Amino acid sequence: MQTVSALEDLRKIVRNWKLDGKSVGFVPTMGALHQGHISLVQLSVTECDKTVCSIYVNPTQFAPHEDLDSYPRQIIEDQNLLEAADCDLLFLPEPETMYPPGEETRVDVPELGAKLEGQFRPHFFGGVATVVTKLFNQVQPDKAFFGEKDFQQVQVIKRMVTDLSMPVEIVPGPTLRADDGLALSSRNAYLTPEQRQIAPALNATLHRVAIRMRNGTSPEQAITAAITSLELSGFEKVEYIEAVDGQTLDPIGSDLPDYPCRLITAAWLGKTRLIDNIAL
Ligand code: PAF
Repeated sequence: MQTVSALEDLRKIVRNWKLDGKSVGFVPTMGALHQGHISLVQLSVTECDKTVCSIYVNPTQFAPHEDLDSYPRQIIEDQNLLEAADCDLLFLPEPETMYPPGEETRVDVPELGAKLEGQFRPHFFGGVATVVTKLFNQVQPDKAFFGEKDFQQVQVIKRMVTDLSMPVEIVPGPTLRADDGLALSSRNAYLTPEQRQIAPALNATLHRVAIRMRNGTSPEQAITAAITSLELSGFEKVEYIEAVDGQTLDPIGSDLPDYPCRLITAAWLGKTRLIDNIAL
């Protein structure tokens, strides 16, 4: 695996691949890689001739009070994991490549990005859409791979790619979980051993809500009970649990519709914000 930081180097390598008729897969990340990221790299390796992964902790998707400074950074471990997963190229852009002096351009997906996560992290999807646009322009991939753990992020990026006619196919990869159901996330590293024991309750609760809804309980009743049970098990604050249309992310009515729906949640366990979702 080659590692490059300069945009000219990245472009030269990708241009030569394309001249050779190779397809290019891309996995954008913020590093602190876990098996969830690696499964996306493996998917790209299976579906494309060449795979690029980027690691860049993007400041514009963090609010001033969030964990930008403490976000885990472990480049050597990440490089080893990517190498073992047959990634071809690691792009580690410099901050001034991503946000050149005087930069001011932003990409926004205002409606989809304001729902769910957007209510609690209003800056988040503007930052994601902006940096992913930059990365797509830099890497110029044929396909880009995103984990379904960040379900809303996948929908926002699909919307953006359609709206801006970006020549890239978005491929979602399934959420990877620990044996006890906790969705793999770089932020799990913040959990204390006691909190790590409590954390799987988030996923278990989503499954309980789904079963109750399938058995005829209204979303409102099932969700209210779930929030109480999560708070009793040690979660400090459940920001939301919502049953939504899997594409528009609008709340579903009182009956389970026959189109794909998602149960989606964010909750705080100590100083760690966990998110999860399952198909309904
Ligand atoms: O999902 C992430 O790790 C980030 O939001 C992404 C897509 C790499 C953009 O910074």
